[in-house]
Amino acid sequence: MTDRSPLPLEALQQHAQQAALRSHVPYSGREEGAVLLLSDGTWVPGVRVESATFSLLIPALLGALTIATASGRRDVVAAVQTRTMREDEALIIHQGLPVSFRRAAEGLALVTTSELPAVGNQLDPRLDDALTEMEEAGITLARRIAKRAHVPDSDFPVGCVLQTTSGDLLPGVNVEHPDWSRILCAERTAISMAITYGLIPERLYLTCLKDETGSPCGACRQILVEHAPTLPIHMDRGAAPAEHTIASDLLPGAFRGDALTAPSA
Ligand code: THU
Repeated sequence: MTDRSPLPLEALQQHAQQAALRSHVPYSGREEGAVLLLSDGTWVPGVRVESATFSLLIPALLGALTIATASGRRDVVAAVQTRTMREDEALIIHQGLPVSFRRAAEGLALVTTSELPAVGNQLDPRLDDALTEMEEAGITLARRIAKRAHVPDSDFPVGCVLQTTSGDLLPGVNVEHPDWSRILCAERTAISMAITYGLIPERLYLTCLKDETGSPCGACRQILVEHAPTLPIHMDRGAAPAEHTIASDLLPGAFRGDALTAPSA
C-alpha cells in the first residue's frame, strides 16, 4: 500500500516554492522562500525581501519567524527553505527559538522531532477586528498587538497594525534575537508580512508602549520608503496621536536605489 499524501517536508517545500514567487528581489533576482511548520500543522510562509541598502535584507526564514511571532505563534516544529540552508541561515532558527532542531532533507530543513504533524492550513495573520474611522481605534489595537512582541533583551515592546488596500489589518511586533543583527522591528515585520501575503500597505498605526515619544528607527524608515513612500503613519502619543508621511516627513531625500542595475536575466 502506498501513501500518496506527500511527506510533510515535501509538502512544505512546495509551499516554500510558491511563497518564493512573492520575494522582493530586484537587485539579485534570487527568489527565495521559507516555511515554518507549527505544532498543530499550520504553516507560515516567509520570503526574501531585499533593500536598496543591501544589508537591510530580510532573509526568508527570518521573515517567516517574525510573521509567526506577530501572530502570537512561536511553536515551530520544522523549518524549510527553497535552497539548502547555510549555517548562518540555520542560526536564525537554532538561536531564535528555545528548542533544539536537527538538519533533515539534505540540508533543506530543520526539524525538532521525527513525528511531524500533518501539514494543514496556511497561517492567516489578519486581525479579526474592524477599525472605525477613529485614529484612536488603530492605536488601541496596536497597543494590544504589542503584547505579542518578543523582547527578552530590551523589554521594549513595539506593536503596529498595517491596514492594507484590501481593508485587511496585519499585526507587527518587534522580534528580538540573540544575534542583534537579526532583530526585526515591528514596522519591518508588518511590511514583510504584507509582501509575503501579496497585500498593499495603506495606513500604519504604531505604538512604542513604554515611550510616548517613540518613532520609527532609521532602518524601518528606509524599508517603509522603499515599499510605501506615501504611507500615513499614526504614532501613539498618548491622548493625541501624531500623523506623519514617510517620504515627505520622516525620510526626505532617501536613497531609493534607482540607479542600481537590475540583475541580468
Ligand atoms: N523597535 C521597533 O520595533 N521599532 C522602532 O521603530 C524602534 C525600535 C524595537 C527594536 C528593538 O527590539 C527594540 O525596539 C529596541 O530598539
